[in-house]
Amino acid sequence: MEAKKKERVLIFDTTLRDGEQSPGASMNSDEKLRIAHQLEKLGVDIIEAGFPVASEGDFLSVQQIARQVRQPQIAALARANLADIDRAWEAIKEAAHPRIHTFLSTSDIHLKYQLKKTRAQVLKEACAAVAHACAYTPNVEFSPMDATRTEWNYLCDVLEAVIAAGATTVNIPDTVGYIIPDEFGRLISHIYEKVKNIRKAVISVHCHNDLGLAVANSLAAVKHGARQVECTINGIGERAGNAAMEEVVMALETRKDFFGFRTGIKTEHIYQSSRLLTHITGIPVQPNKAIVGANAFAHESGIHQDGLIKEKSTYEIMTPQSVGISGTHLVLGKHSGRHAVSEHLKKMGYKLTGADLKKVFVRFKELADVKKEIFDEDLEAIVYEEVYKIDERFKLVYLNVISGNVAVPTATMQLEVDGKIIQDAGFGVGPVDATFTAIRKITDTNYNLLKYVVTAITGGTDALGEVMVQLKYNGRSVAGRGADPDVIVASAKAYINALNRLEFIKGDVKKVRIE
Ligand code: KIV
Ligand code: ZN
Repeated sequence: MEAKKKERVLIFDTTLRDGEQSPGASMNSDEKLRIAHQLEKLGVDIIEAGFPVASEGDFLSVQQIARQVRQPQIAALARANLADIDRAWEAIKEAAHPRIHTFLSTSDIHLKYQLKKTRAQVLKEACAAVAHACAYTPNVEFSPMDATRTEWNYLCDVLEAVIAAGATTVNIPDTVGYIIPDEFGRLISHIYEKVKNIRKAVISVHCHNDLGLAVANSLAAVKHGARQVECTINGIGERAGNAAMEEVVMALETRKDFFGFRTGIKTEHIYQSSRLLTHITGIPVQPNKAIVGANAFAHESGIHQDGLIKEKSTYEIMTPQSVGISGTHLVLGKHSGRHAVSEHLKKMGYKLTGADLKKVFVRFKELADVKKEIFDEDLEAIVYEEVYKIDERFKLVYLNVISGNVAVPTATMQLEVDGKIIQDAGFGVGPVDATFTAIRKITDTNYNLLKYVVTAITGGTDALGEVMVQLKYNGRSVAGRGADPDVIVASAKAYINALNRLEFIKGDVKKVRIE
């Protein structure tokens, strides 16, 4: 007998909208487009591409994604007012499958202190917004913001009214990450019972991670009837972030015996998606992060290792391969030829040809001269630096650092700035400080350094050092990353990368932010 086809849970990815609200996660339009293409490859059902009314940059970026990413639905966010909705539609009208996502707060706290409106007013405005959006497209989602702190019966009234007005998806946001899984499950059941027309819409959930419960809450909601989960890659997002897509998807997949659902996600592209986001935003993933952390499949205990050798399932509930981690860590060295490197890159998911492959191979050879073994992570760092780099106003030409317990740490540096070579030197309390001083002098900038993090990409003292810096500009923060066997050079690269990324942000002044 043919197995019964499992019901589908839709994956709505908001990495490019809510995820971008993470401190330091600002991305330029090319970077967003690259992420959107990766999300399409991953098989997400809906991409929330941005909030078009926020700025001209957001609008253009959503429009570009709508025009070029044709498989998934492309959603644009809009507050519940006519102007926002018009702007959202303008941005996505050329999408193959457009969706307008409009939202309005419904909790008494928000109504009293933020909106200064009555419940009746909010209900009316929500319906008017949905009706206006429906004039453009039948694919309309409504979110009662702060739904989990909204009085349940009023929430049900709003949901029933917006469905009657034409909403085909009703999202239940846990905006401040307040609810507990069991309680959320009961809320979804309550909505099913009380909202008469609920079967005309899909129930979605959108959970924030303030209590570390975003994934658990999303799964509890699925168990009680939600059929769309809003999430982000690596769980990035406002404050403690959003539900992590890879965790939601792998929980549904690994425990399909319990949930009985499937998603459209091609799980073997999860790891590469996570790495792409880390490379673009410079926001690292903690080593013990589920599914995509460096230690997610590492077994330290002797007893576990013994069990694994005898039978993998003793201590492994999913394979690294199932999420796209090759698991082989094939080592390349200085005698590896161009073909071997290209074939290995292909296995890692990077199909490079022509000039791109040549640039990567040249860098590979340079690294292999100083580092005995080249691992996947080393190769990946090269690919991101050589192939996926952004337009650069500032380029590192030369760096010489003197440091030690008797020297005054001094960095002498040459940068190319707008095509002109500029040289200067800086002192500091240590070599990194001296390097950053030199960069600040040459570029005539002085941004607040919010964060400086060094990690070794692979083991050993000859490992590539990966550095992430975060700079503050005009209330926003931007991250930069750099990798090199020399951590001081990696630090300089990271700082310069952040400055280059800042150039894009300066030109994109946000007029509206979702508070
Ligand atoms: O967290 C939230 O409430 C949101 C809405 C705009 C859906 O992001
Ligand atoms: Zn949110």
